[in-house]
Amino acid sequence: MNADPRVMEFFPATLARAESDALVARIRAHFARHGFGAWAVEIPGVADFIGFVGLSIPSFQAPFTPCVEIGWRLATAHWGKGYATEAAMAALAFGFTEAGLAEIVSFTVVANLPSRRVMERLGMTRSPSDDFEHPGLALGHPLRPHVLYRLSRGDWRQRALP
Ligand SMILES: CC(C)(COP(=O)(O)OP(=O)(O)OC[C@H]1O[C@@H](n2cnc3c(N)ncnc32)[C@H](O)[C@@H]1OP(=O)(O)O)[C@@H](O)C(=O)NCCC(=O)NCCS
Repeated sequence: MNADPRVMEFFPATLARAESDALVARIRAHFARHGFGAWAVEIPGVADFIGFVGLSIPSFQAPFTPCVEIGWRLATAHWGKGYATEAAMAALAFGFTEAGLAEIVSFTVVANLPSRRVMERLGMTRSPSDDFEHPGLALGHPLRPHVLYRLSRGDWRQRALP
């Protein structure tokens, strides 16, 4: 998945085996430290692993940090079926109840419309005044401009009501 150029279109580069393994190690460390992280997603009885969806604490500084971010990455064979949104709804429920978070954000490259549609299906909202330049990328890099979406616990609860 991390070596697939379609999956990594909105990231600076695909990952080599060792880089992908290092990412998994960072995810495990995040779970150990914070009690939540990027969960592996399976389709029970069909596929043991289709990608990850979950909550993480960004390590860079921006006007909206510190914060908890929700994110997703699925193998292409499993796009277009609603799995990212379904898994993200479970992650939001965990974040707002078990973890007691007051707000969860999500961000992506401006042109990453599939990811932005997941955010919008979850009821997250973007304010242009929150748009930011990702500090992990060089000035002028085409992937540097990002949009930020937010969801408060109150708004999440409101949507979750029947
Ligand atoms: C971002 C990403 C997870 C979105 O995947 P996705 O398959 O579009 O999202 P979902 O799993 O929520 O599926 C929703 C899509 O499936 C369709 N769909 C089909 N059956 C469905 C069902 N039963 N329920 C819900 N949606 C369904 C929806 O219409 C929607 O398509 P649309 O956005 O074109 O309208 C995926 O593109 C990806 O992994 N990209 C690479 C990694 C990446 O960029 N991650 C984000 C970085 S910030």
